[in-house]
Amino acid sequence: MKIFESINEFQTEIESLKANGKTIGFVPTMGALHEGHLALVKQSVSENDCCIVSIFVNPTQFNSLSDLEKYPRDFNKDVKLLKSEKCDIIFAPKAEDMYNINELKNRFDFDFGGLDTVMEGQFRPGHFNGVVQIVSKLFKLVQPTKAYFGEKDFQQLSIIHQMVKVLDFNIEIVDCPIVREDSGLAMSSRNERLTTEQRAQAAEISKTLLESCSLASHLSPCELTTKVIDNINSVDGLVVEYFDIVDVKTLQTVNSWINPAVGCIAVFCGEVRLIDNIRY
Ligand code: PAF
Repeated sequence: MKIFESINEFQTEIESLKANGKTIGFVPTMGALHEGHLALVKQSVSENDCCIVSIFVNPTQFNSLSDLEKYPRDFNKDVKLLKSEKCDIIFAPKAEDMYNINELKNRFDFDFGGLDTVMEGQFRPGHFNGVVQIVSKLFKLVQPTKAYFGEKDFQQLSIIHQMVKVLDFNIEIVDCPIVREDSGLAMSSRNERLTTEQRAQAAEISKTLLESCSLASHLSPCELTTKVIDNINSVDGLVVEYFDIVDVKTLQTVNSWINPAVGCIAVFCGEVRLIDNIRY
């Protein structure tokens, strides 16, 4: 497995892969890898000649400096995990090489077609601008055949699909299912920050979402929304930031069950912000 920090050396490697007609599977990450990431890597390894994983904690997608600073980092552990999954290349650039001062200071503009004004976009203003900024930069450098993203970040995935269309990238985006711990808790790098007690509390999020599926046949989306929020808020240590049942395509709140919908949630478990979702 090769590890590149230098953008120039990485570009030379990409040119050689392209010249040899190799297909490239790409898994962009911010490190602190868990089974959810490794599932993406496994799929990428099995479907491409070369699997590239980027590890870059992207400063422009964080809303607060303290959240950026608290983001878990363990590069050596990530390297070991990726080696055991037979990843071919790790790309781990430095922030000062990826961005110039102006890019760090000014918000990146992108036409999200309304996908960014709800849910995460409403509570984390500018977050998706930063995501699109870094993913588009990485796509230009890596030039992957396929790129793999987890459905846990459902809104991010919708926005990546939109970005590929708007910016005309010739890349297949592969949507990968949520990977859960035995308790049902969706895998996340942020889970590392939960105490044992908080982990048990956080497991109630997915349990409530799963139970809500069987209630959907006799409750309206609005009634179900209230029920899910009340149930989760009644658990000690959990505070719902939002729960919204939205159309899978437009991400706008639904009033009926006519079109496929997804319930997206963000919950604070103590100081740790967790997200999850469920299809109806
Ligand atoms: O999902 C993530 O970990 C990040 O948003 C991504 C896609 C790696 C961009 O920094």
